[in-house]
Amino acid sequence: MRSDEVVDCHVLVIGSGGAGVRAAIEADQYGDTVLVSKTIVGKGGCTTMAEGGYNAVLKELDSCEGHYEDTLRGGAYLNDPGLVRVLVDEAPDRMADLIRWGAVFDVDDCACVAQRPFGGQRFPRTCYAGDRTGHEMMTTLTERMADTEVETYQEVSIISLLEYEGRVSGAMGLDRNGEVMLFRSDSTVIATGGGTRVYDISTNSSSGTGDGYALGYRAGAEVIDMEQIQFHPTGAVYPYDARGRLVTEAVRGEGGLLKNKLGERFMTRYDPERMELSTRDVVSRSIATEILDGRGTEHGGVYLDVTHLPASQIESRLPVMLEQFLKFGVDIRVEPMEVAPTAHHIMGGLRIRPDCSTTLKGLFACGEVSGGVHGANRLGGNALAETQVFGKRAGETAGKAAVHGRSHDPAQVEGERNRLGKYFTGTSDPAAVWRQLKLSMWEGAGIFRTLPALQQTRSVIQHLQSLQLRAMTAENLVECCTVRNMLTTASLIVDSALLRPESRGAHVRKDIAQDWTMETSPFGHTFISRGCRGIGKVSR
Ligand code: FUM
Repeated sequence: MRSDEVVDCHVLVIGSGGAGVRAAIEADQYGDTVLVSKTIVGKGGCTTMAEGGYNAVLKELDSCEGHYEDTLRGGAYLNDPGLVRVLVDEAPDRMADLIRWGAVFDVDDCACVAQRPFGGQRFPRTCYAGDRTGHEMMTTLTERMADTEVETYQEVSIISLLEYEGRVSGAMGLDRNGEVMLFRSDSTVIATGGGTRVYDISTNSSSGTGDGYALGYRAGAEVIDMEQIQFHPTGAVYPYDARGRLVTEAVRGEGGLLKNKLGERFMTRYDPERMELSTRDVVSRSIATEILDGRGTEHGGVYLDVTHLPASQIESRLPVMLEQFLKFGVDIRVEPMEVAPTAHHIMGGLRIRPDCSTTLKGLFACGEVSGGVHGANRLGGNALAETQVFGKRAGETAGKAAVHGRSHDPAQVEGERNRLGKYFTGTSDPAAVWRQLKLSMWEGAGIFRTLPALQQTRSVIQHLQSLQLRAMTAENLVECCTVRNMLTTASLIVDSALLRPESRGAHVRKDIAQDWTMETSPFGHTFISRGCRGIGKVSR
């Protein structure tokens, strides 16, 4: 048997987005902490790409009760109320941490943190740094982490969780050369972010491949509500290689108008009260309906128009949008953007308790990889807050957990090595498999769903899972493992969608007529773990 590089620590954090770095900063106070990132810390992941903002109750006129109710209503009452309570109560303190550590948020005339309106919220409570809020947060967090003892391993992809004596005891990874590394820990925090790269059109960076759902599920953890996929209403539609790129909700928060090719503000038909600032599930469906009904634009989107706003407002509040569209040849100060829905966020994920413990001993989760906070539809601005609130909690709980003589099972590692070895004799190109997967997911598990379409996508995934992926060199092993994770994540999404026989939030079954509302639905969470799956029933 070969000897692998072994790293021992008290807390292992997997993932280097906002939640992972926040968890590591916290865990560092309790013992030696290692953070493993498949990218470069602070550069990869979705937090740094997040544009719009961070929801927190900061003003006397606002209230945590209001934030709580907005979040539950926006989530079609599928949220875990205990997790929502934690989110809204602690978001202001975590915001204060960021400011104390040097984050620069925009301020209003009274030098207080400025807040803009975002969809589904009755109070403008979204704090922002122009339209590069996530970038500001990540810069602050990585600088803060640099002042701690946290040890980081970059460009190392975790491929499985280690299990020893009935608990998660760390993880096995591959470095950029395809060499195996073992990380053994007392507690392990998964903070790997989301996975909407399993869809053809997505806002996610290349790292949004759903690794954490797959790692957790394969180790035996329970996932909930994986069918709930947020399609952000406004992604770029052209040029082709920019398709799906985020066009921040802040554009509508600043007063942007949605129009179809006839010039109609079509939201009057779908949500005349909230219009462009309705919840994302409603706005996405409205845009998709306009396009499907033939009222879309030349490039297959709808118009998002800010030309009525003062140029100075666009320049100061939406500089990234201005620059991005100028690169596409569109000056948004004088021309409308063209936008269409894009897969953005997975609301479901690993089931957690308020202390971020999962259903597996020794394993904690925070950020997008966890489920329950957002229910069936996330409010814009609640994800950045979630990274900080639950990142801190995960780091603290994992840090306070007992020390357990760090060890691993050599047979498990040898089994993984054998699995990796088989990729060298595989025949299927991982890139081609991913391409088929994402097209099929877009087709069958998108905004509007039916039983036959979901079943068709399910059988495509099963077929793809039966193929033996091919690695030409050791460096290609990571790609095979990543595509395997995407297939697992996609199957969890589709299987969960098949478990939910209703339309709820972002999950819409066109072929089911129902006589209940989101408040009176007889269904709770969908859940899947190895050997157990179903949907909760609510007695009313
Ligand atoms: O539209 C946006 O800026 C995205 C924000 C979010 O997903 O929270």
